[in-house]
Amino acid sequence: MAILAPSILSADFANLGRDARRVLDAGATMLHIDVMDGHFVPNISIGAPVVKSLRRAADGFFDCHLMISDPARYAGAFVKAGADLVNFHIEALPEPEALLRQLRAQGVKTGLTVKPGTPAAALFPYLPLCDLVLVMSVEPGFGGQKFMADMLPKVRALRAEIDRRGLSCLVEIDGGITLETAPQAIAAGADVLVAGSAVCGAADPAAAVRAFLSL
Ligand code: DX5
Ligand code: ZN
Repeated sequence: MAILAPSILSADFANLGRDARRVLDAGATMLHIDVMDGHFVPNISIGAPVVKSLRRAADGFFDCHLMISDPARYAGAFVKAGADLVNFHIEALPEPEALLRQLRAQGVKTGLTVKPGTPAAALFPYLPLCDLVLVMSVEPGFGGQKFMADMLPKVRALRAEIDRRGLSCLVEIDGGITLETAPQAIAAGADVLVAGSAVCGAADPAAAVRAFLSL
């Protein structure tokens, strides 16, 4: 069974606490928080003050996905706000080692992400410093896009490399994950499924969580 990380990008932003509790209470382990700066991606979502408020409103593991141009500058604010894992893009910081080490020293888990155009091998040198690697299966920026099945070989390549080296890094996939596409991601070796519109955007988010967890 994979870990489910509902993305609150598809939640009701006026009721984020309620929507976060709803999916966590239904059994989701992680909450995926999409941070966009309108520069690294063509959309603006939420920042550290929202994470801080949400931290008071919901228990559970906060997976903060930073889609921002300068993660080294802002990562600390998300740690302070209550992130459990800080996930940033290698395209934004091609030499990520110092930030990965800094995050671990601050006591949070680390995640490194690749956009669709970046090969899996770009992450290989940093796997020992990562608790999780994230494969984007859509171009980052918006929820509700179509799953890119051609990203599955990237999941397989990361899974194989992590296993070959005996590492404990998780593989997460984000974008277009539904009850139909999730089984393909799981079969390719994904441990963590991010789902926005299929969970927080569903008519009954709790039922959607239960359906994913029964896959
Ligand atoms: C996209 C975000 C995703 C998004 C996924 O840039 O990183 O986390 O919320 O949404 P769905 O599941 O609707 O594709
Ligand atoms: Zn995301």
